[in-house]
Amino acid sequence: MNGEPITGAVGAPRPRIEGPLKVTGTARYAADVPMPGLAHGWIVTATVSRGRLRAIDTSAALGMPGVLGVLDHRDAPRLNPAAGNYFGPDGSLQLLQDDVIPYAGRPIALVLAETLEQARAAAGAIRVDYDVQPHDVGFHLDHPASRPASTAFGPEADTGDVDAELAASAVVIDERYRTPEECHSAMEPHAATAWWENGHLYAVDSNQGAFSVSQVLAALWSIDRDRVHVRSEHVGGGFGGKGLCGPQVILAAMAGERFERPVRVTLTREQVFEATASRPPTDQQVRIGADADGRLRAVHHRAAYALSPLAEYIEWCTEQAKILYAAPAIRTQLTAVPLDVLPPASMRGPGATPGSFALESAMDEVAERLGLDPLELRLRNQPTAAPVSGRPFSSRRLISCLQEGARRFGWAARDRHPRTRREGPLLIGSGMAATSFSAGVFPSTASITAETDGTFTVGIDASDIGTGARTALTAVAADALGVGTEQIRIRIGDSDLGMAWGAGGSRGTTSWSFAIIEAAKKLRERLDDPARPVTATMDTSALIDYQPARERQTFSAVFAEVTVDPATGEVRVRRLLGMFAVGRVINPMLARSQVVGGMIMGLSMALHEESVRDPGTGRQVNGDFAGYHIAAHADVPDIEADFVPDYEPQDPSGFNGLGEIGTAGTAAAIANAVWHATGRRQRSLPIRLDRVLEAVPAQAPAGEVHAA
Ligand code: MOS
Repeated sequence: MNGEPITGAVGAPRPRIEGPLKVTGTARYAADVPMPGLAHGWIVTATVSRGRLRAIDTSAALGMPGVLGVLDHRDAPRLNPAAGNYFGPDGSLQLLQDDVIPYAGRPIALVLAETLEQARAAAGAIRVDYDVQPHDVGFHLDHPASRPASTAFGPEADTGDVDAELAASAVVIDERYRTPEECHSAMEPHAATAWWENGHLYAVDSNQGAFSVSQVLAALWSIDRDRVHVRSEHVGGGFGGKGLCGPQVILAAMAGERFERPVRVTLTREQVFEATASRPPTDQQVRIGADADGRLRAVHHRAAYALSPLAEYIEWCTEQAKILYAAPAIRTQLTAVPLDVLPPASMRGPGATPGSFALESAMDEVAERLGLDPLELRLRNQPTAAPVSGRPFSSRRLISCLQEGARRFGWAARDRHPRTRREGPLLIGSGMAATSFSAGVFPSTASITAETDGTFTVGIDASDIGTGARTALTAVAADALGVGTEQIRIRIGDSDLGMAWGAGGSRGTTSWSFAIIEAAKKLRERLDDPARPVTATMDTSALIDYQPARERQTFSAVFAEVTVDPATGEVRVRRLLGMFAVGRVINPMLARSQVVGGMIMGLSMALHEESVRDPGTGRQVNGDFAGYHIAAHADVPDIEADFVPDYEPQDPSGFNGLGEIGTAGTAAAIANAVWHATGRRQRSLPIRLDRVLEAVPAQAPAGEVHAA
């Protein structure tokens, strides 16, 4: 049976099972857990972008009411410098270990007090002197410090002869695209409550994977992993910004050890901006050559992103150039530019989202130059196998997404010429983009207990950051055990449940489902034995094939309609429609919610989001919600999102991930719609009012305006 529908829980729409807990305020987040004897930590951050600490004067702070002490590099517990996240030793974890300031916002001290207010007041009384050194936050593609990015995610593409194919092309475009540094901006700021007991570290932390945080903490303190217990039952959003072990839990654990009390550290919104990882800025060059009939001859995608020398990171912007279109020559070059900035991390749809903005904008430019419908250009260049690896696709329903999306959007009625539709003072345009996002599974462990009352307890260290994972996994477990969902009790968000992948890389639900289904199989074999309770535990690491024979990707097509006011430069998205191919859908209600959320994030990226750094100080000048704009309700139209029938044959249940594909593609579709409305390309995000005004003459020349 292998997870084929038995009871039909998979495929049925069902609201989040923890919804009532959340709306009644019963769900406890990391900063909510009641804790006797709790002390509060307040972080002091560096205000310069590079240098050394000359002096930290804590004398005034230590005399203030309720203050228990201050931790800084002179006396903080020593951490193991070899500890790391996914890419090996990670200097961004080494908090309060030395006097070096690698970026503005780096935590340099923690004040501990009886109340949050006392800690905050004392932090304001700490005097810090720096030896300031020159910093460099000036990011661009050809920066002299740039170096090839790590190829840990796969080799660069270099097939065919790009220059010869470009020379033989009827149409060539060669353009630069830029995306800014962005902040994840989850609703719940990073927070942790930590304490030590008999040599064991306990933490309630806001993160996207309790097990990996427990591994990092164990490595930092050089203790056995099973002495670290991290719980993260409810998490108020992450978007990748909580994918790594955050500063809050490291600092809370340090203070808990030193002061022998439970310690809570909650970041302010400003500290989330300055002290937790962001999406790095990108600067990309795309060269595409095509024949007059719209056949691509060459795709060359060069992309650079900023990082910190403290830690490796890959913003994999060039991946889609290897997946989306067939061409005799395809070349990718990804470079990393080390700067004096905080280490970046994955943000929803990492790599694919800024990469797709560049590639899919460039494809639109090719269609424009050819005088061809941009949808038709995509359809003419669909590969039969992965264009660079040559591997067959596991399932590739992109053409269905494109055709069905176009049908629902009414694309056929569109005049491809720009600036041809007007409504009163507004210019109207529509645009589209195709996308892919890699899919797969990572090892996880699940255990299932058949209880004496006929119910089942499923334990897996899954992470539900608001996605509905808990609800989806309940359905998966019910079908795998052949029982109703009401017979399933699920426990997640606890590192004691064993090794599991986190909510990241669009691989959470596929990985956890794989483990649950395997554990259920084992349990069902043993259930013939009438004695209950019986527990089966399954670790799927031995079953995961990291090099599956077929290319495993999800696909989507996004369509957007915008209005542009040429007098104010205001762009509004009027319609947004996404069709997705993500394997078999576990819960259509929550899946739709997830991809709609992703599309809103793409809309926000297209029009609003931008962390701005002052080159003089290197610091962010808009690191709060007054200065950093994200899409609000009034910016978001009624979004349509749906799924084409799909089944992933390399998955035991036909599933693929859908966490991030919603975001990728949306910004390009909107930028292409802005071009269609105005006749001017927007190659830098966000599409701010000033950028529109600069590009678009307020009064169209006589004769250019056609009736709508
Ligand atoms: Mo996702 S940005 O991989 O948490």
